[in-house]
Amino acid sequence: MSRPLLIGPFTQLLPMTGLPLKGALKDEQLPIIQNGGILVSEGKILKVGVFDELKSDEVDIHPIEGAQVCLPGFVDSHTHICFGGTRARDYAYRNAGKTYLEIAKAGGGIWDTVTQTRKASQEELVEGIISRSKKHLKNGVTTIEVKSGYGLSVDEELKMLRAIKQANETSNVTLVPTCLAAHMKPKDWSQDKDYLDVIINELFPIIKTENLAHRVDAFVEESAFSPGEIKPYFQKAKEMGFDITVHADQFTAGGSQVAVDFDAVSADHLEASTEKEIQLLAKSNTIATALPGASIGLGCAYTPARKILDAGGALSIASDHNPGSAPMGDLLTQASILGTFEKLSNTEVLAGITSRAAAALRLTDRGKLETGAQADFVIFPTDNYQEVTYHQGQLKPSEVWKKGTPIH
Ligand code: NIG
Ligand code: FE
Repeated sequence: MSRPLLIGPFTQLLPMTGLPLKGALKDEQLPIIQNGGILVSEGKILKVGVFDELKSDEVDIHPIEGAQVCLPGFVDSHTHICFGGTRARDYAYRNAGKTYLEIAKAGGGIWDTVTQTRKASQEELVEGIISRSKKHLKNGVTTIEVKSGYGLSVDEELKMLRAIKQANETSNVTLVPTCLAAHMKPKDWSQDKDYLDVIINELFPIIKTENLAHRVDAFVEESAFSPGEIKPYFQKAKEMGFDITVHADQFTAGGSQVAVDFDAVSADHLEASTEKEIQLLAKSNTIATALPGASIGLGCAYTPARKILDAGGALSIASDHNPGSAPMGDLLTQASILGTFEKLSNTEVLAGITSRAAAALRLTDRGKLETGAQADFVIFPTDNYQEVTYHQGQLKPSEVWKKGTPIH
């Protein structure tokens, strides 16, 4: 075993520990270690504390120069970064006043990306995922959830999930795959059998055998699948031991009820959630995930994050990085902007992209800097953590560490 490595001193170290999973958070609750250090061995954190107290003859030191703030590596709990092509046309359509459905009818929307993704080889998809995840990494993101959902047939969904798995094998960032075969009804479906039946009976077993994903997602929406239609899909996914997550209440309410009924790990979007859905989520184990990148991309309302937190809900914030509604793909920028519009404390914003985001992926070994956790952290060149959100993503990390190694 190599000698433990002590990294520090950090002007401020924010371990993001000791905070409740649910409910509002005040900045007075945010633990800050002044002149902190992280002791790392074999990719894991041995100890977090005051740098001088962790120093000893037994450890090597990686010195940190100047004023620096250290946080857990960011977790982006909802993305679609596996895709082919572009949807630049959608931007122009939207700004010309076309609605989501009108854009779909004009040849844009999700189906456009399905067509372009089907044309891409698995290798090309892998390259796309890796180049996008490198951009996220530079911005401090060390774990990224990645959905399929632009294949919409057994073979094409498999191509996407295999590409995500292959990218994960070479990427410095951890990629968490999710099967989103129920993203919309495939427009070209010509088999006699029901699409979702085929997904359930043919795709799910292969996903299990090849260990391609342990999470299943669906878009519950008028333009995609109704709560009734999606029931057998989630039922079967649950029986097979998949974690459930739902694209819920994006344009019309209804998906969050499905999420709670299936004890989903998260319900994501929620821009159209009303008081009823907010209360429902707050009382459940399901984590509400806000996707400000989609609100910015579509020019829609933000997820009622303030109300969700005040009602006692858990809030993760993710980028939804996708070619249509959220092409920006900058988690910190979007989370900071959501904070401004929804009046979130810094602690709520930062927990939303660290500890609470990890919980939305059921990952217990990251999102916090504590003994036993993976040594994933991000360092910003400032003496005050408030600068991180204040600059809305323009203050860039000076270093990003993954599993105890500096990778940026
Ligand atoms: O999360 N809402 C459905 N799915 C994606 C959009 C995907 C796309 O437009 O390509 C979302 O916003
Ligand atoms: Fe999405």
